[in-house]
Amino acid sequence: MTDDDGQLEARLEAQDVFEPSDAFVSQANVSDPDVYERFDAEWPHCWEEAADLLTWESPYDQVLDDSDPPFFEWFTGGELNASANCLDRHLDERGDEAAIEWVGEPVDEANRTYTYEELHREVNEFAAALREQGVEADDVVTMYMPMIPELPVAMLACARIGAPHSVVFAGFSAEALATRMNAADSEYLITCDGYYRRGDPLDHLAKANEGLADVEHDTTTVVVDRLGPNGDDFGHDLGAAQHDYGDLVGAHAGATVEPVTRDAEDMLFLMYTSGTTGQPKGVKHTTGGYLSWVSWTSQAVLDVKPEDTYFCAADIGWITGHSYIVYGPLALGTTTMMYEGTPDYPDRDRLWEIVEAYDATQLYTAPTAIRAFMKWGTEYPDRHDLSSLRLLGTVGEPINPRAWTWYYTHIGDDSCPVVDTWWQTETGGMMITTLPGVKKMKPGSAGPPLPGVDVELVDAAGEPIEPGQAGYLTVQKPWPGMLRTLYRNDERYIDEYWAEYSDVDSDDPDDWVYFPEDGAKIDEDGYITVLGRVDDVINVSGHRLGTMEIESAIVGVEGVAEAAVVGGNHDIKGEAVYAYVITEDGYEGDETLREAIVAGVEDAIGPIARPEQVVFSPDLPKTRSGKIMRRLLENIADGEEIGNTSTLRNPEIVADIQAQVTE
Ligand code: WTA
Repeated sequence: MTDDDGQLEARLEAQDVFEPSDAFVSQANVSDPDVYERFDAEWPHCWEEAADLLTWESPYDQVLDDSDPPFFEWFTGGELNASANCLDRHLDERGDEAAIEWVGEPVDEANRTYTYEELHREVNEFAAALREQGVEADDVVTMYMPMIPELPVAMLACARIGAPHSVVFAGFSAEALATRMNAADSEYLITCDGYYRRGDPLDHLAKANEGLADVEHDTTTVVVDRLGPNGDDFGHDLGAAQHDYGDLVGAHAGATVEPVTRDAEDMLFLMYTSGTTGQPKGVKHTTGGYLSWVSWTSQAVLDVKPEDTYFCAADIGWITGHSYIVYGPLALGTTTMMYEGTPDYPDRDRLWEIVEAYDATQLYTAPTAIRAFMKWGTEYPDRHDLSSLRLLGTVGEPINPRAWTWYYTHIGDDSCPVVDTWWQTETGGMMITTLPGVKKMKPGSAGPPLPGVDVELVDAAGEPIEPGQAGYLTVQKPWPGMLRTLYRNDERYIDEYWAEYSDVDSDDPDDWVYFPEDGAKIDEDGYITVLGRVDDVINVSGHRLGTMEIESAIVGVEGVAEAAVVGGNHDIKGEAVYAYVITEDGYEGDETLREAIVAGVEDAIGPIARPEQVVFSPDLPKTRSGKIMRRLLENIADGEEIGNTSTLRNPEIVADIQAQVTE
């Protein structure tokens, strides 16, 4: 227990609604309460307001083309380039201002500032280099990179030449990289020699090379030298198909590359994400709709202004970093921060040190981080002047009122609105959250849908539910930032997101309903509390993982006959991976097998998916028809009472498993 617990408890008890301060509202980008009604009345033309934030080479003819649902198209006929929108158009007024402030993990290393001018220059040079390597418009370029500035440079260089990028989180395994490169037929990889984690240089290229060995076609690789001499010990020697990033950029010093004209509906990037089945889904985002969406939400929700120093402490390897470290902030011409390391290295006040040193104006992070800050105690933020902060945000998982109130009190000093933003890889950007300059906040509730976003909570039959009840989230109308399809798999796109609540034979767009696979509650004011996934996806520290992917990794380990993976509650991570495993005849559920299972999961996915507990059992609780009772396994993981087990084929197994988990 920390010192402030008593006060926090008192506050939780006393206050469940918070108003944004007058000081915030008076300067907010959006403060007109009529925005909700206006957007409803004007829909879909309200989204011209988002498109107007961009610079178009040729104007669009139609805001929404809904003639072929669910393949909705936005701003059709319009032409633009994302890199020109994020760079070129800011040069005149903001060329000397910082576009990116990068902080490396080692404290004694010099941080790097890229002005818009400098970022523009390097993006042009690298775009020229990529072209020389053969990259053409519509070639998918994979990036397997940690939080180093060359990652956004590479993304924008690809956008400049019309090549969609597919960024694979650096913490993912070699196998995960290979799966994604194969799925996208990607012939180009940009990676780096290594990076720092808690003071140690980590050999990233070895992992990339291991992945490349499983890629089914020839690839060209570009390697950024992140570590300098600290990477010498790894003994890397770039092969003939591998090029040094610095050499390539150097060879094109001063080059300029005209931004390629892209249709609004041309693909900007692919992002693979976890779903119900084992195969990751390639979510396709487009140039016009996506960029409009992230720009509009960045200014309306995060209140981003050009003069801000905006800090999103996510990783660019996930959608949050794409939308709200790179594209949204840069399209608006602000300064976006990037931090390479973890918030507790070398000490637990690293993030607060950065906020203070750079006078950060917004902080956008995940509830898992906030829960960790809370556990570490207030002495760390208290050591720093955080008064530059104007707004706080959270994303990725539900935030409980306690963590929300702690964040509001101790980081925001009671003066910063907190936006709890619900969205997904597939939605491109925020969908449900308060507009901080307009709406009151209720801790534990994301808030109402954004203006122009038509969210409805329904029951299993698709009928609207009453306030106070729990149901399923649906989105009843399309929005510009939505995914357009799953890469090369239109059928799966319909199955995964639309089939549940749509009339799939209808040509009427009103008959099509998007299902995000989340459960939620709604209150009398229309405020939505998102409860979490209702499919086989779990959320570990804000990272989205498919239980099927983890299960197939475990079943691949010698000695394992069957496995069931569920998410159990975890104080810091939100959810943790619990693996229940039946061994094959002749194998013991011992420490050796446990280690092999953990290693198997790390190899297939990465350390983020590592099981918190592996429970061996001769059988798993199953229904009479042989279906594993996952809900019951979740209850066991959470140490909850187990109700009636009479519908099980093998009720006797439950106590046995319970005994192991509570051990
Ligand atoms: C969950 C991350 C509650 C949700 C941007 C969703 C949330 C999944 C919130 C998407 C929130 C995201 N409150 N739950 N504010 N934000 N989620 O694709 O279950 O990595 O479906 O996108 O995270 O995860 P993804």
